Amino acid sequence: MTKRVAILISGGGSNMIKLAQSMTGDHPARPVLVASNDPAAAGLDVAREMGIETAAVDHRAYGRDRASFEAALLAELERAAPDIICLAGFMRVLGAEFVSRWEGRMLNIHPSLLPKYRGLDTHARAIAAGDTEAGCTVHLVTPALDDGPILGQARVPIRADDTPQSLAARVLEQEHRLYPAVLRRFAEGERQPLMLD
Ligand code: GAR
Repeated sequence: MTKRVAILISGGGSNMIKLAQSMTGDHPARPVLVASNDPAAAGLDVAREMGIETAAVDHRAYGRDRASFEAALLAELERAAPDIICLAGFMRVLGAEFVSRWEGRMLNIHPSLLPKYRGLDTHARAIAAGDTEAGCTVHLVTPALDDGPILGQARVPIRADDTPQSLAARVLEQEHRLYPAVLRRFAEGERQPLMLD
């Protein structure tokens, strides 16, 4: 049975594009929805051009009422009936109830070698710490932020002259390799972590 994949984004959606492009041919999954918390997210236009259904649930319309925002997002997702949800640059923290609803079926990509540098500003923190390597992690989403079981990692060296921007660009290239590879394996039922150099 082909797996149905929903992808959540907040911005440009370069990871979403790589994921969607990968789901062709004998791939066991297909993209059924790209949703964003920002109606102006550039990735929504790209998804539409790729022929993928889109939805926008503007978190600003809900103020501090996260429960109502998540209920609206949940309704969009349930309409699409995904088997797998991929967070791909989705910059809202999701509550425990929402996360539990999709436990074991929701993946996230994070721009650090978890468990190092959960949260934001990962590249600046890695440089400031004097680390010699950085990278990205795909993991299952659990209620604790950036903390679920690791499904794959890719590493990049940190150069002496790296800025957070230059490092982010090199890590993003690896994200584009890692996430489609992990999604394919996950859709095939593989749960062993994929470690790329
Ligand atoms: C990516 O680097 C992703 O790892 C990061 O946001 C970027 C989104 O880029 N995600 C997080 O920081 C999640 N906390 P994209 O929109 O081009 O895929």
